[in-house]
Amino acid sequence: MVSKGWFLCIGLPMVLIIEVSSQDCDQLCSWLRQANQANLELLNSKMGSTIPQQCIEDVFSFSPKEDLRNLDVSEEENAKVAIQEVLQQTGHIFRQNRTEMLWDEDSLRAFHAGLDQQSENLKSCLSASPRSQRIQLTSLRVKRYFRSLNDFLKEKEYSRCAWEIVQIQVKQCFLWIEKLIQMI
Ligand SMILES: *[C@@H]1O[C@H](CO)[C@@H](O)[C@H](O)[C@H]1NC(C)=O
Repeated sequence: MVSKGWFLCIGLPMVLIIEVSSQDCDQLCSWLRQANQANLELLNSKMGSTIPQQCIEDVFSFSPKEDLRNLDVSEEENAKVAIQEVLQQTGHIFRQNRTEMLWDEDSLRAFHAGLDQQSENLKSCLSASPRSQRIQLTSLRVKRYFRSLNDFLKEKEYSRCAWEIVQIQVKQCFLWIEKLIQMI
């Protein structure tokens, strides 16, 4: 969770904002880790422990155009951008047609609020300087990965199985974020 001080700094003079937020950015790792843990727990609680039998075939039919695991995120800024992009894209995908998705509205709302908050806070700790080509590429590849997920959902007509697989993938992304946080 983000400390109260974080919210308090909003609306204070510019200089102070920079001071306060750069101080808070020192704690970026620790609250990102907490927030990511909360996301994972919520996601886990909504997912079954096993893949439903009728979805096995779909699992094999999903082949993303990107493998995020081999992305070079050794730079700190690059890792932050990757995390932020995953959070935003996850929020986006969880706003698609959810008729067949087994989440209640309250959990979904909490999930979105967490993602948005995390993404906003992370944004405050990103460098304002123009992004290197490598960072732009990271962002692009994360987007492309999520486009595969979106296409898959659409192609499977937002079926229960498609949502199962999307959730498995998003879980992998959150586990990846855990690794990325160590780069920060
Ligand atoms: C949402 O998905 C369900 C289940 O696949 C489908 O029946 C419904 O028509 C879809 N709704 C929209 C607005 O696409």
